Amino acid sequence: MQLSTKHLLGIKELSPEDITTILTTAAQFKEVLQRPIKKVPSLRDVTIVNLFYENSTRTRISFELAEKRLSADTINFTASGSSVSKGETLLDTVNNILSMKVDMVVMRHSASGAPHFLSKHLPNTAIVNAGDGINEHPTQALLDAFSIQERIGELKGKKVVLVGDIMHSRVALSNIYLLKKMGAEVMVAGPPTLIPKYITEALGVKVEYNLKKALQWCDVANVLRIQLERQNQVLFSSLREYNLAYGVTRKLMDEINKDIVIMHPGPINRGVEIDSDVADGNESIILQQVENGVAVRMAVLYLLAGRKD
Ligand code: CP
Repeated sequence: MQLSTKHLLGIKELSPEDITTILTTAAQFKEVLQRPIKKVPSLRDVTIVNLFYENSTRTRISFELAEKRLSADTINFTASGSSVSKGETLLDTVNNILSMKVDMVVMRHSASGAPHFLSKHLPNTAIVNAGDGINEHPTQALLDAFSIQERIGELKGKKVVLVGDIMHSRVALSNIYLLKKMGAEVMVAGPPTLIPKYITEALGVKVEYNLKKALQWCDVANVLRIQLERQNQVLFSSLREYNLAYGVTRKLMDEINKDIVIMHPGPINRGVEIDSDVADGNESIILQQVENGVAVRMAVLYLLAGRKD
């Protein structure tokens, strides 16, 4: 099994066959991760740098753990504390790291398109996008897909609603691309100020401004964080009012009286987009998403490292 692409820049560039290959390989790695010895020698001669120009808890730890489970050598770089503060460019930083015989780059950056830029300048080094600005977060969408399949079966025909700050969410865009490619029905729900105009025409998703109606429609609700750090103007009145209109609360879940799967990519703003008794309730698979992230990232790294041109 081989991917059609050298890098993982976004779900946009993947074919449905690539997605199936990654999810199938991830299932095999998930089985490895249930064993007493959770390590395989697959990437023993491979060195990977995790280049994080933006904060992360889940993604950074998950990639590092995936690399260690595959027996790769890993280096962790965070922009804070590095020579970036002295004015070194992204390309100079990466070229310096690569000169030390590094094989793959996992990168998170606040600038949309940063990994695409790198891939043009470094065509022979596999680049994995761990989240770029408001563009894509492909491994999050892959682990979300894996987690949906694990809970309720194949994606084709499933109804998935992405709730909240669609405008600023790279998780939303990657999920939309992936779910549509795999035959799921996709809706976005939230306040009109946080949903891009023309999203239906551009991406083929339904739009619903009434959260209760959206939850009544769906099999899965993926609840997104309000990305306050990416908003340079006031797009809703207050967090309290946001919670009243668009928070996934226990009261709302009881009112819809339907089994749906609740997801969240994290970090959660408890009491804003989701209440604790839903985030921690039986319908939530939030921690399974995090668990599955390791197997999915192992699959991505393994398949890219093994790719023959
Ligand atoms: N889901 C996600 O990307 O979380 P982090 O920002 O903690 O990596």
